[in-house]
Amino acid sequence: MTIEEAIKARHSVRQYKTDSVPEGIREALLNEINQCNKESGLRIQAIFDDPDCFTGFLAHYGKFKNAHNYIALVGTESDMLEEKAGYYGQRLVLFLQMKGLNTCWVGGTYKKGKCRAEVSSGEKLVCIIAFGYGVNGGVARKTKPMEKLCNVPEDKMPDWFKKGMKAAMLAPTAINQQKFYVELIGEEVKFTSKNGPFSKVDLGIVKYNFEVVSNYKFEL
Ligand SMILES: Cc1cc2nc3c(=O)[nH]c(=O)nc-3n(C[C@H](O)[C@H](O)[C@H](O)COP(=O)(O)O)c2cc1C
Repeated sequence: MTIEEAIKARHSVRQYKTDSVPEGIREALLNEINQCNKESGLRIQAIFDDPDCFTGFLAHYGKFKNAHNYIALVGTESDMLEEKAGYYGQRLVLFLQMKGLNTCWVGGTYKKGKCRAEVSSGEKLVCIIAFGYGVNGGVARKTKPMEKLCNVPEDKMPDWFKKGMKAAMLAPTAINQQKFYVELIGEEVKFTSKNGPFSKVDLGIVKYNFEVVSNYKFEL
């Protein structure tokens, strides 16, 4: 599966099979997390076979079933923490999709107090990503039209920018808010976002999707 196929195939999945993640995939995920942590300075952690975060009212409200693995996005508090968590978290989401697993970003409907990740003083748990083998692959959802999300008409945009925009539109955002806006100014791409719950995390997620298919490089 190519990264573009993974972007198209990914949908939030909240209902999982009870199957545990095989050893080879665990190792590959831990290696990828190590790489992300080296590059970003974050302290992302994977927790396997622990359903406690997903039990109780909030989890029920969020309709999670049999979720028992998660990635905890942890890092030192800074202005860029949320955006970096989004960017590197999405890299891991697509990594897992390419390995045949499903995911769901979770910012609210989990029990933070039951999260087993280490969070030292000065650090923050931004949110988690549930993962595992979904009962199904999830369903496609609505997106805002491209002209509402960027400053260039579709028939005037260069190919690499159009590819990036299509991937950005398929990126998950909290409550599907899509509060981002993309500007092409000369050769430069600028992403901004209106305020909203987790909108900085969303910005990092959307930038990753845009970058990985267009080869445009953002400074994080
Ligand atoms: C930062 C962030 C936080 C999210 N928090 C939750 C959550 O607490 N509970 C939940 O069920 N879904 C959560 N989601 C999933 C979104 O609702 C979902 O990604 C969005 O509706 C788009 O659907 P899709 O992922 O299938 O494309 C979150 C997504 C993001 C990006």
